Amino acid sequence: MQRENWASRLGFMLAAMGSAVGLGNIWRFSYVAGENGGGAFLIIYLASILIIGIPLLLTEVSIGRKAQSDVVGSYQTLAPKQPWFLAGFLGVGSAFLILSFYSVVAGWALYYLWEYITGSLSIEPTEGYGAAFETFISTTYQPLFWHGLFMFITIFVVLAGVKQGIELANKIFMPILAILLLILAGYSLTLDGAMEGVRFLFTPDWSVLSDPSVYIAALGQAFFSLSLGVGTMMTYGSYLSKEHRLPSATVGIGIMDTLFAVISGIVIFPAVFAFNIEPSSGPPLVFITLPDIFSQMPFGGLVGILFFLALSLAAISSSISILEVPVAYLVRVTKWSRKKASVLSGLIMFILGIAVSLGMGKWKDITPIGKRNIMDSMDYIASNIFLPIGGLVMAAFAGWYFTKKQALDATDLKDSPLGNFWLFIIRFVAPIIIIVIFINGIFFS
Ligand code: PFF
Repeated sequence: MQRENWASRLGFMLAAMGSAVGLGNIWRFSYVAGENGGGAFLIIYLASILIIGIPLLLTEVSIGRKAQSDVVGSYQTLAPKQPWFLAGFLGVGSAFLILSFYSVVAGWALYYLWEYITGSLSIEPTEGYGAAFETFISTTYQPLFWHGLFMFITIFVVLAGVKQGIELANKIFMPILAILLLILAGYSLTLDGAMEGVRFLFTPDWSVLSDPSVYIAALGQAFFSLSLGVGTMMTYGSYLSKEHRLPSATVGIGIMDTLFAVISGIVIFPAVFAFNIEPSSGPPLVFITLPDIFSQMPFGGLVGILFFLALSLAAISSSISILEVPVAYLVRVTKWSRKKASVLSGLIMFILGIAVSLGMGKWKDITPIGKRNIMDSMDYIASNIFLPIGGLVMAAFAGWYFTKKQALDATDLKDSPLGNFWLFIIRFVAPIIIIVIFINGIFFS
């Protein structure tokens, strides 16, 4: 079957940005930064994006574009009969792990959207937003309904195809999201106590730098936020034709993603301090702080609708990119229709997600690998271990398996002064940093 391509370079850019910008920038970034000391975390995070993230993004997209295949097929095409493709399967595994918890959190966002539409969240519940949220996520059926609905929408977009589904959805969702976040950031800065939040985000507390777990958290966040190491960007790159130039596109995607994260921080931390919420409250952070801000502002109910709509759209534009990883693989290997591959993969993710959702209530005592709950464990394994390994293999593949000429050709860096710099990073700097952070984080924290 003929593989589809993006209709335009802009379509690819928006889809890749859509993949990068998501719950990771708003929900995950704010609580991970909150738990890891704020400003110092931000610096390590920005350094990870710059030194490792963007060069690897270019690497991942270029491997996909060169091979014109899914994450397993790309390695097989470029390195036939060699074990590199095993990294492709690791990517497919990461996609299942990530989407099964991502969809649960996105389901919470959909529920909040609904509650704002019906007006129930516009006024603070008597027990407070924090307790109301905890009660909601720990019930059995309601969160499962929203998780299922979110998965249904994701499947629906993916089965419509690359151009008609993924590209179209991103063209509509991304501009709306950008405008909404800017408005919210402006408002949050006017709150009493806002400066304390801004200070928390931008003033480094250097003492956290001696804690190895901060580095692994920042690295994991960089991979998660840029959608790196799964094969998402490789798969999206494979729908690009050869004439598009990659370096500027990938730098643009990296900058946009970082901007969205920092802006979300500016929205959330001032409110965290204005309402005396602990910055280290973990995953519930945005679901408690934002409703608090909204309830204090004029037209808060409307803003709540717009914000949770934006958050849901951001989540969908990312979740479709995750589902596309196994779908592209299955369509090629099994010759199934896109529809069958999307429905089946999505269904499996939904089922895995049931465990994640129950892990917030009924199954809250199940805490694999010593993490807070099932969701945190899956997130930790995927983001802090699988993704960096996936990225490490991609760097090694482009840096050492390709000849220098092949590598520079694949990335369009042939005639650029940056070519040697990029090569040096993916050959030496990125792998060494990833390995050092890894060993430190896993064995010494
Ligand atoms: N980058 C997305 C976010 O920040 O929400 C999440 C994500 C998408 C992670 C795709 C991994 C991935 F392959």
